[in-house]
Amino acid sequence: MPIAAGLLDGRIENHNVSGRPWWQRGAVYQLLVPSFLDTNRDGLGDLGGVISRLDYLQWLGVNAIWLSPCYPSPLEELGYDVSEYCDIEPKFGSLAAFDRLLDEAHERELHVIMDWVGNHTAASHPWFRESRSSRRNPRRDWYLWRDPKADGSPPNNWVSVFGGSVWQWDAATSQYYMHTFLRSQPDLNWRCPELRAAMLRALTFWLDRGVDGFRLDAAPLFFKDRLWRDNPVNPDYRPGELPDSSLLPTYTRNQPGLHELFVELRTLVARYAGDRVLLGEFYVPVEELVTFYGSTAPELHLPLNLALTHTEWRADVVGRTIAEYQSRVSGRGWPTTTLDTHDQERIVARAGLAQARVAAMLLLTQRGTPTIYYGDEIGMEGVAIPPDEAVDPQGRRTGRNRDPARTPMQWSSEVYAGFSAVEPWLPVGADRPTANVASQSRDAGSLLTLYRRLLELRAAEPALQDGVHEPLIAGPKLVVYRRRNAERRLLVVLNLVHEPAVYALGDEGSGKVLLSSVPDREGERVTGQLKVRADEGVLLALD
Ligand code: NOJ
Ligand code: CA
Repeated sequence: MPIAAGLLDGRIENHNVSGRPWWQRGAVYQLLVPSFLDTNRDGLGDLGGVISRLDYLQWLGVNAIWLSPCYPSPLEELGYDVSEYCDIEPKFGSLAAFDRLLDEAHERELHVIMDWVGNHTAASHPWFRESRSSRRNPRRDWYLWRDPKADGSPPNNWVSVFGGSVWQWDAATSQYYMHTFLRSQPDLNWRCPELRAAMLRALTFWLDRGVDGFRLDAAPLFFKDRLWRDNPVNPDYRPGELPDSSLLPTYTRNQPGLHELFVELRTLVARYAGDRVLLGEFYVPVEELVTFYGSTAPELHLPLNLALTHTEWRADVVGRTIAEYQSRVSGRGWPTTTLDTHDQERIVARAGLAQARVAAMLLLTQRGTPTIYYGDEIGMEGVAIPPDEAVDPQGRRTGRNRDPARTPMQWSSEVYAGFSAVEPWLPVGADRPTANVASQSRDAGSLLTLYRRLLELRAAEPALQDGVHEPLIAGPKLVVYRRRNAERRLLVVLNLVHEPAVYALGDEGSGKVLLSSVPDREGERVTGQLKVRADEGVLLALD
């Protein structure tokens, strides 16, 4: 319930002794509702499935879950095509099921973050139906309608993420409407005060129910150029990249009005007790990313750092990327690190299973809040699904199919991996005999055990959560950094290649192994030099 600002001091109850809010202390688990667990035998995951796995998530050691969109939707685009903002898609459950999920999650000290799709709706949303019904409809201005050029062509050269013009001709009202993604995903007009108020009311609907935060989808795209100018051609575009990258986003990304909107959203969530949080999806350079913490007033708590989701897995590149991010974010806001999302290839597909352990250690020893993508904790590789068989419309249209990273969570080695009793909506990985929760939870040497231990260590070691990040080495084999606070100095040595390597401790002196990615050398004393095996990561407590 909204409370008066003066009561906000009560928030302290939600903090631990170090006085930091929950979203700075734990890790966020991103899961796709349709791919987590199916409980009503339709091959599609549902909220009942999420509820029945909350114990698992608590056992794993995360303190928040970020759910993929579960609003009513034609589900053409994984639910990122919303046809009603204040309800639950019947295929996933009901509002009652969602309320139960919230209660049961909160009982386990798990916070719930919803995906908030603010850039566009589904074309089947009643708002768009009204908007397109006539030029005089009061909701006409809720979407982006433009006249053609004199020759009848689209208003400008903007290209959709999924290819072709962003402009779709509407014969009934003789105007074009804009869609950054599918033509069945029309973009909203955030400069329309009534639309803006309706969206804020919808956020309030979920905040009042007790949701702990939102991840703002496509966050830098909400506003477009007022003059609708052509975007310049991108001289660095390489075939194979998404079609919209053929142009520079000069007039479609981070336009005037965006920061003010984020300030307003931040003010809205700040009215609620319990440290509600705003995350945002940004594919922008890091110097731009850090501006979304806010300059004159607070904006988002966690502009997501997605660099590692598409960075080449090479020690020099990875080392430089994290060092640059950590240094830019320092003093600006609380950092985040994401290894995988539903939009990119999984780490096992990109770097191999052996490196998934090193990647886990990297992710969970970064300063700030890590997000873990479902299935990464068991090393799911995904399934190679060719674009012509894609469910993902991006896959069918551009060849960059995201289905491989969206396949059912593998709970067991059974034929449908314990995800469903019937054939799932996407195929199950061939790696399910080993990449599954049941067998890895019994195995002290498994990747799942490593994730648990890293999360446990992170929770116990404030130096890992917010100690300073001191980069030491970036390549050719090793990424090495120190994490330090007043009490503790920790050294992380990650070997990103398939051969052994040696790190000379030098100034670091000596220490004791707290954890290795191959957990068989804890407690080992190290002086002078640390030998790491192929594909090994070691976390050392320095003396
Ligand atoms: C960003 C989401 O992460 C992606 O999956 C989706 O395709 C687009 N937004 C469009 O909704
Ligand atoms: Ca189901």
